[in-house]
Amino acid sequence: MATVLVASNRGPVSYALGEGGSLDARKGGGGLASALSTIDARESLWVCAALGEGDREAVRRGTAEPGVRMLDIDPATYTDAYNGIANSVLWFLHHHLYDIPREPVFDAEFHRRWESYRSYNRAFAETLAAEAAEGAAVLVQDYHLALVPGQLRDLRPDLRIAHFTHTPWASPAYLRMLPTDIREELLRGMLGADVLGFHTRAWAEAFEAGAGDLGRTQVATYPLGVDGEELRALAYRPEVDDRLARLRQEIGDRKTIVRVDRTELSKNILRGLQAYRELLTAHPEWRDRVVHLASAYPSRQDLEAYRAYTAAVRSLAAEINAEFGTADWQPVLVSVEDDFTRSLAAYRLADVALVNPVRDGMNLVAKEIPVVSETGCALVLSREAGAYEELHEDALAVNPFDVTETAEALRTALTMPPSERADRTKRLAATAVSLPPQRWFLAQLEALRS
Ligand code: G6P
Repeated sequence: MATVLVASNRGPVSYALGEGGSLDARKGGGGLASALSTIDARESLWVCAALGEGDREAVRRGTAEPGVRMLDIDPATYTDAYNGIANSVLWFLHHHLYDIPREPVFDAEFHRRWESYRSYNRAFAETLAAEAAEGAAVLVQDYHLALVPGQLRDLRPDLRIAHFTHTPWASPAYLRMLPTDIREELLRGMLGADVLGFHTRAWAEAFEAGAGDLGRTQVATYPLGVDGEELRALAYRPEVDDRLARLRQEIGDRKTIVRVDRTELSKNILRGLQAYRELLTAHPEWRDRVVHLASAYPSRQDLEAYRAYTAAVRSLAAEINAEFGTADWQPVLVSVEDDFTRSLAAYRLADVALVNPVRDGMNLVAKEIPVVSETGCALVLSREAGAYEELHEDALAVNPFDVTETAEALRTALTMPPSERADRTKRLAATAVSLPPQRWFLAQLEALRS
């Protein structure tokens, strides 16, 4: 029986089916995985969903990493819950992404999918209930599993339950769009927890404002930071050096504006490109003196809105290159590959980091770039990113909808004196590492046990 349990949709390991039926394990899980590794493996259990065919096959064969339990949920149920509700409804509500004249539409199909979401949550709750020792601590992650705390509380009143939201929380007006009974079920699910964690006060307050009476639940903020040592070690490996040298060759001695995101609607990549275009139009002296490196690695491509968005990013970048490019200068270098080495190389050579989400739980990239930047970078940061709460003093703040303001901020960033840039970067990096994943996790565990 485990005394510390974590539950999340995406687990710390995934399996790919190789030729001839072999199963290749790939480890990920980021900060949470390293945090959990501080706890005795016999004491802890990480419950996650089987995401694809490789994972399902691993479950069938009984292949498993120690301390990890993958749930093989019926694929149709899983797809309805993950794509149909978590990523198409809850993600859109929490990030305010709806095109209001057309969406959301809560019809019979929505209600059918919600039932799948409920039973996908229930599969987690039942496994946790069966595996948890008396009085164990359970740390549930994110909007995928918002009903788990309440369901688990009903099954096991003895447990200490925390839920952490990695996204923003919808404003009360957005939350009210949900059908009343569904909104109440969602809140009841969340309020089954002893402690609800958010990255920032803004998201905690949005929750409190929409929830009304919190009962016995405590709401707290734990602004996740980065593990500076680990990240620097990764970013200064020889393969990243090689990559950086190649990028350097392409860019020459021009300045760089860097962004790295998932291809994600909330990241506001299109307005970022529009701002760059406006910079080149309004300040032609920057032509041929700057390159915009935009990495947008693929994400959630099962959803049509994400495929269309990825295509729009590519085509806007191509338009800018056609409009301003010359024989030896390509203004935008877009990469839509999952290429971590390239991203780290870009972090290192960034003169300017552009992080302009329309709304974002934290946006760790804003913390990562200053930590690995070689000579200091000026950070252009959206007021709607969670990271803004901690980093605003040393960043150049922008309204993510204001393309003209963003273009001006890019120019200010490009012309910032090197010493000021270095000083600001030092302070940004110090703030960025103030609550690394291990301490972020242990702080929640402590709060739960006290
Ligand atoms: C956000 C969510 C995470 C999620 C990640 C990647 O950061 O808060 O829970 O894992 O995006 O999204 P994906 O759908 O690929 O897991």
